[in-house]
Amino acid sequence: MSLDKNLIENLIDITSKAAISCYPHLGKNNKIKADQAATDIMRTNLNQLNINGEVVIGEGELDEAPMLYIGEKLGNKKGQKIDIAVDPVEGTNFVAKNLPGAISVIAIAEKGNLFKAPETYMNKIAYGRDIPKDIIDLDFTIEKNIKNLSDFKNKKIEDISVCLLNRKRHEKIIKILKKLGVKIKLITDGDVAGALLVSDIKYNVDIFLGIGGGPEGVIAASALDTMSCNFQGRFIFENEKDKVRAKEMGISDFNKKYDVKEIIRGDSIFCATGITTGDLISGIKKDGNTFHTETLITHKNQKLVNKISKKYTF
Ligand code: FBP
Repeated sequence: MSLDKNLIENLIDITSKAAISCYPHLGKNNKIKADQAATDIMRTNLNQLNINGEVVIGEGELDEAPMLYIGEKLGNKKGQKIDIAVDPVEGTNFVAKNLPGAISVIAIAEKGNLFKAPETYMNKIAYGRDIPKDIIDLDFTIEKNIKNLSDFKNKKIEDISVCLLNRKRHEKIIKILKKLGVKIKLITDGDVAGALLVSDIKYNVDIFLGIGGGPEGVIAASALDTMSCNFQGRFIFENEKDKVRAKEMGISDFNKKYDVKEIIRGDSIFCATGITTGDLISGIKKDGNTFHTETLITHKNQKLVNKISKKYTF
């Protein structure tokens, strides 16, 4: 089974419009307003599609998110049954501060094929294509993963580039990486884009690792799968409430390590439009009443990975 190819154009328009809706909020120090604007546009437009969709990754649980909450049904309910993951603004701080790297994202798969992720942290590791699965693992030490990668790529350890979020919880990992002498690329936010940097040599990132949002891990995995890259993730359940919710979502083994193929199955479409220009995608440019957008699109069944530029005049 495949997803309807026409949905690609629809999704490009939706993430583009969501990204454009953030433009007035750039650098206004109000991430809530930017997120609201993008969520609103995304929801209105997804509801106009000929789909029978359900949000599996969204803005939160129904009690905390009135729009695009997990479980919300979207579309005209007549079309194909699909799972939808949304992140209307990935990198809300970037928008609030007008800094590089904010994107607006949707990923879809056929019903039951996209992991329904709880709102918890996830320990993640992502690396590029053509690297054997047995040489890198979430359960190996940092030293072993870096050494194996350096041996396999025939690249000196000091030339291996590692991307991770700059967080206090990563102090120990950063210390190890410094000792190893690798090139460390610390990002302040936006680990969907961070993980995708392993997909092409031009981004100069050999491996992405560390703890970030679980939903963001699932979204990144959906693009990495089409890009033939590798991803592993393990949710971190910090308290009883997290565990109860995870159980409700069908997770029984709280320590399970998920491979990319367990997170996303079958056909999928991933669509990310740049809000502010980052390493991965260019941001919104405004020229008079015309907005220029750039969108990264992947479609599994067509093995499609492409960047599309579009213009929208309002
Ligand atoms: P938001 O866009 O929702 O603010 O998320 C940004 C982000 O950096 C994600 O990319 C990442 O997964 C998560 O926050 C990390 O969470 P924390 O800031 O709590 O470490």
